[in-house]
Amino acid sequence: MKEFKIGLLGLGNIGVGTYKTLEMNKDAIEAELGASVNIVKILEKDTERERDIKVTKDQFVSDIEDITGDPDIDIVIELLGGIEPASTFMEKALLAGKHVVTANKAALAASWQRLHEAEKKGGAILRYEASVGGGIPVLTALAGSLRANRFEEVMGIVNGTTNYILYNMTAKGLDYDTVLKDAQARGFAEADPTADVEGIDAANKLSILMALMFDKYVPPTEIPTEGIKSITAEDIEAADKEGCVIKLIARAARTDDGVEYAVKPMRIEKSHPLAGVDGEFNAVFVRGNAVGELMFYGPGAGPLPTGSAVMGDVMEICKWISK
Ligand code: HSE
Repeated sequence: MKEFKIGLLGLGNIGVGTYKTLEMNKDAIEAELGASVNIVKILEKDTERERDIKVTKDQFVSDIEDITGDPDIDIVIELLGGIEPASTFMEKALLAGKHVVTANKAALAASWQRLHEAEKKGGAILRYEASVGGGIPVLTALAGSLRANRFEEVMGIVNGTTNYILYNMTAKGLDYDTVLKDAQARGFAEADPTADVEGIDAANKLSILMALMFDKYVPPTEIPTEGIKSITAEDIEAADKEGCVIKLIARAARTDDGVEYAVKPMRIEKSHPLAGVDGEFNAVFVRGNAVGELMFYGPGAGPLPTGSAVMGDVMEICKWISK
């Protein structure tokens, strides 16, 4: 029986979620592919941490070359987070002809051109469904079933942390600091939530959406970006009186001169589908000239939803290379 061998970079929360997704559904995944699928090597410094998965010490490696230089490895899953060394490791893997799956929006958005060049040069496939909207299959739909459209606009709630904070400020009338502390205590917000609350994470995701939808790559650092730190309970109350809620929106739209884009808190009318996206959920609202308006909605983060998207990409690659 054919075996697909995977090298995994990073066994943090998302790495564990991906590993678990494969463990949980291994029989069905392998039956569909007609091949076995195994994570044979894991690049991870923390080999001691207790993890709720069946992983053995001999799977761990400490040098990226152990994976990129291993001729038996077909696919590399990158879940390290951060721009570097993740970008360099993915580039190396692609140039070595290994197919790459990543959930890392920061690395992908910052190194978009470099990674796509490496993909071409290496004759490999780069997939990244989990990088925007976590478990929501939005990128595959935009690049596939919706490809016949000329896209006019995208408006995304693509950061769960800030949506959780704004939702709780709105629903409970609490102030920003109180909700942020609660979100951190419940594990929704990172100990250092800077990238989330300043809109940087959403800008990374908008950069990826724009590259796919408008064929226009804009580095995230060049996207006008405003976070949610200055939003007060009074702003939310004032919006409410006018029939609106405040959401952090990553928006891009076609104009007569090109494409306009920004990440900023916006007033959304309560009748708009995005207004009902509560808690840590994500949604991406799209307008295309044939399909009209549609919205993708679901869990935008978390180990298993992200693992679901990562393993979906892995399966697509397995099918493609089996042809
Ligand atoms: N910090 C991100 C969020 C994780 O809150 O949405 C998912 O990309």
